[in-house]
Amino acid sequence: MTTANVAYKQEKVFSAAIRAFHWLRALSIVILVASGFYIAWPYLVGADSTDVLLQGWIRFVHLACGFTLCAITISRAYLFFFGKSDIERRSFRDVIRPQSWMAQIKTYLWMGHLDKAGVYGPLQFVTYFAISLMAALMCITGLVMYANVFHQGLGGALWSAASWITESMGGLAMVRLWHHYITWGFVIFLVIHIYMAVWYGIRFKHNAVDAIVSGYDYHPEKH
Ligand code: HEM
Repeated sequence: MTTANVAYKQEKVFSAAIRAFHWLRALSIVILVASGFYIAWPYLVGADSTDVLLQGWIRFVHLACGFTLCAITISRAYLFFFGKSDIERRSFRDVIRPQSWMAQIKTYLWMGHLDKAGVYGPLQFVTYFAISLMAALMCITGLVMYANVFHQGLGGALWSAASWITESMGGLAMVRLWHHYITWGFVIFLVIHIYMAVWYGIRFKHNAVDAIVSGYDYHPEKH
């Protein structure tokens, strides 16, 4: 493909499943942050009001998105390890190579080129790993709180594991606090992630934001 006399190369980087999970996860996280902060501070209904329906609906939305996030977190971990394409797994090689870290830091200072084994740079890989771990922690602490509210069905099935985790974390109040603290991690991540995604496309002419929409990385031939 050519645009304004520059030849562009097209490369498939993200499968349909990875793209669908990315956007579904983004949507659930945004709704979870908003509904979670509302649960923590239900400012729309006065303390003496008998209107408890709004809180119930917001908790329902939180749980629906929460279970969506649980399902995506498990499916995404499966895809990372067992997916057909190894483009994500290959990036781990850069994480354990000090030269790759140096190359990445230098490119942030506009020196040299990023030479990656897979689709992510080492810092990007470590950040995504940390956010996946945070998602897993949110799912665990969320499910523990769920089991403390709903004692039958899934809540009942999770009860013995949930009470063990509650005790290990120092009580239910601590579970709630950690669930709340980690929420801020997602807020901070979201801002940096969007900034970096746009900046990366401009800086490297590679893997711009459209790659996670179309699945294709379009970049000039010489890059
Ligand atoms: C990125 C993911 C998530 C975020 C940002 C988030 C955020 C929050 C926040 C801020 C609260 C209020 C805590 C407080 O009272 O201070 C909350 C409560 C809660 N969350 Fe989450 N959450 C997430 C995922 C989940 C998941 C996966 C589940 C379960 C499947 C879940 C279940 C709950 C439950 C049961 C409560 C307590 C509701 C209540 O007290 O009525 N959350 N969440």
